[in-house]
Amino acid sequence: MEKRDKIYEGKAKILYTTDDPDLVIQYFKDEATAFDGKKKGIIEHKGVVNNRISERLFLMLGENGIHTHFVKRLNDREMLCKRLKIVQVEMIGRNVAAGSLAKRIGLDEGVTLPRPIVETYYKSDPLGDPMLCDEHIFMLELATPAQLEQMRETTRKINRLLTDFFVERRIRLVDFKVEYGMHKGELLLGDEICPDTCRLWDMDTSEKLDKDRFRRDLGKIEESYAEVARRVCGEI
Ligand code: TMP
Repeated sequence: MEKRDKIYEGKAKILYTTDDPDLVIQYFKDEATAFDGKKKGIIEHKGVVNNRISERLFLMLGENGIHTHFVKRLNDREMLCKRLKIVQVEMIGRNVAAGSLAKRIGLDEGVTLPRPIVETYYKSDPLGDPMLCDEHIFMLELATPAQLEQMRETTRKINRLLTDFFVERRIRLVDFKVEYGMHKGELLLGDEICPDTCRLWDMDTSEKLDKDRFRRDLGKIEESYAEVARRVCGEI
C-alpha cells in the first residue's frame, strides 16, 4: 500500500490517497479545536490514542453488522479506510442531556433522556454546523429520504452497541457524533469514534473522560484520553 497525495486536511485528521483508488489513509493529528475552531490546542498523543480507540470501536461495530469504512490500522497514527463520498449530515445520538442539547432545551446536564434521540446537523464549518430538520436536508439535497432513514436507524443501533460496550468498561455514553458516506453504492459509517466525538463519563465518579476536558479547561486531558484507551483497548 503506497501513500500518495493529501486530499483533505480537517481539524483532527488528514486524508491521503493511495495507489488503490478505492482506499484512503486517515492520519490522526494531535491538534484539537472547539467552538468551530475558535479554540485551538494540542492534546499530546491524541492521534495515537484516537486511532487505537477508533480501530477497536469500528471492529466491534463491524462484528455486530454495522458496515464501516474501516479496513485496518496501519501504524500508530494511520488507518486504511474505504474511500467515501461523505454525506454532509452529522448524526448525533444522545442518551443524557449535555452540551448543546442541555443549553437549547434548558435541561440540566446529566439528566437521562426518556428515550435515546438522534439529531441531524449540517456538516458546514462556515455555517457553524447548524441543526437541520428533514425538510432542510431534502431541500439542500444532502441525503435522500432512504439514506436519512438508514442513517437514523444505523445511528440508533450504533448507540445500543456502543452503550453496552462502554457499560462493560464502567463508562456512560452520554452522546456521540457519527458520519456516513457512500462507497460503491453502499452507505458506510465513516470518520472516527473516540473521546473527541463522544461524551464519556466514568460511571462510578461521573468524571468526564472526553473532549469536554479541553473545551471547558478541566485539566487532566491526556490522562482522561489514556484512561479511555486503557479501558477500551487494554494497555497501549
Ligand atoms: P453538542 O452537545 O456540542 O451538540 O455535541 C454532541 C456530541 O457530538 C458530543 O459528543 C461531541 C460531538 N461533536 C463532534 O464530534 N463534533 C462537533 O463538531 C460537535 C459540535 C459535536
